[in-house]
Amino acid sequence: MYDDIKQDIYLHFVKYDNLKRYNHSIKVMEKALEIVEQNNFCVDLEQIKLSAMLHDVGKVIPECEQLKIIKERKNEFGLSDSEYEELLKCPNVWHSFVGGVIAKKKFGVTDEAVIDAINYHTSGKPNMSLLCKIIYVSDVIEDSRTYKTANVYREYVKRDFDNGLYEILKEINRMLEEKNEMVFSLTKNACLYYKEKKWKES
Ligand SMILES: [Fe+2]
Repeated sequence: MYDDIKQDIYLHFVKYDNLKRYNHSIKVMEKALEIVEQNNFCVDLEQIKLSAMLHDVGKVIPECEQLKIIKERKNEFGLSDSEYEELLKCPNVWHSFVGGVIAKKKFGVTDEAVIDAINYHTSGKPNMSLLCKIIYVSDVIEDSRTYKTANVYREYVKRDFDNGLYEILKEINRMLEEKNEMVFSLTKNACLYYKEKKWKES
């Protein structure tokens, strides 16, 4: 399916005049495929390509339109009432769920595993699928990211994928708190979940 819609994905980013975001998506796909190969993960590469290339299709949509979609499609997200109320207060997360809606409606994606990976690529959540974890991590450490500690996290992920995921979740929680931004409870809970998992496995 990816090959059938890859031109349309490109045109989506062209329409919104954001080839930077398209190139980022390509980098996320490359990183995700690299992680799969390094770890010999048994995942469907078609799902990897679709999730990576579609994860940010919502990000190019103006924020007021994102909010409109979030309100219209409330019942499609599988969030509890309290999570949905929180989502309304976390504009940085809207594009993920908007991306899931666009992937379904505009690009005809019916694979719920792909939609799940798109929906949670910003917030993360406890007990993510392998696909979801790979997209989450790849988004943060793809090779064109230039933040100060990018190489540190690339190294963590290369050495131990699950530990790398936990270190990234911890850092994102810390950064959001430092900026006094509201931290979505799914992000906090993801961090606690993977901390406990790490502790149990050690
Ligand atoms: Fe992204």
